[in-house]
Amino acid sequence: MASILVLNGPNLNLLGTRQPEVYGSTTLAEIETLCVDYGATNGHDVTCFQSNHEGALVDAIHNARGVHNGIVLNAGAYTHTSIALMDAIASVELPVIELHLSNIHAREEFRHKSYIAKVSIGQICGFGPAGYGLALDALTGHLKGMS
Ligand code: DQA
Repeated sequence: MASILVLNGPNLNLLGTRQPEVYGSTTLAEIETLCVDYGATNGHDVTCFQSNHEGALVDAIHNARGVHNGIVLNAGAYTHTSIALMDAIASVELPVIELHLSNIHAREEFRHKSYIAKVSIGQICGFGPAGYGLALDALTGHLKGMS
């Protein structure tokens, strides 16, 4: 059994009403339920956390060390700006799957750059809420390969 942290960053608390033409109508609560249910079905422990604050996300990554086996991270806009989040991931040496609801590579140029990608084992983007299930599959498969 793996313990996994699903971490969501700024503005993702507004999913469901935030630019539904880009991010869809599924709420964060529904996504978190999907993730917890994934864990229950597949024998993993899934914990979810969201913050709009960069430091709180850094703290959550630090606190994951020794508690969780890996992280699914949608860092929102901090993906494109945050050296602090990149350094936090590098520091804890936990496997991270980078996730985005939208296809960041098909959007504005500034969204093409990801600091998270440099310290992640892989990136999933463009599949909407289903991406969380794909990311959990990828992470648990990765962890299984390591054990
Ligand atoms: C996002 C993509 C980011 O560029 C954006 O800033 C977000 C959401 C996504 O899930 O598609 O807040 O991470």
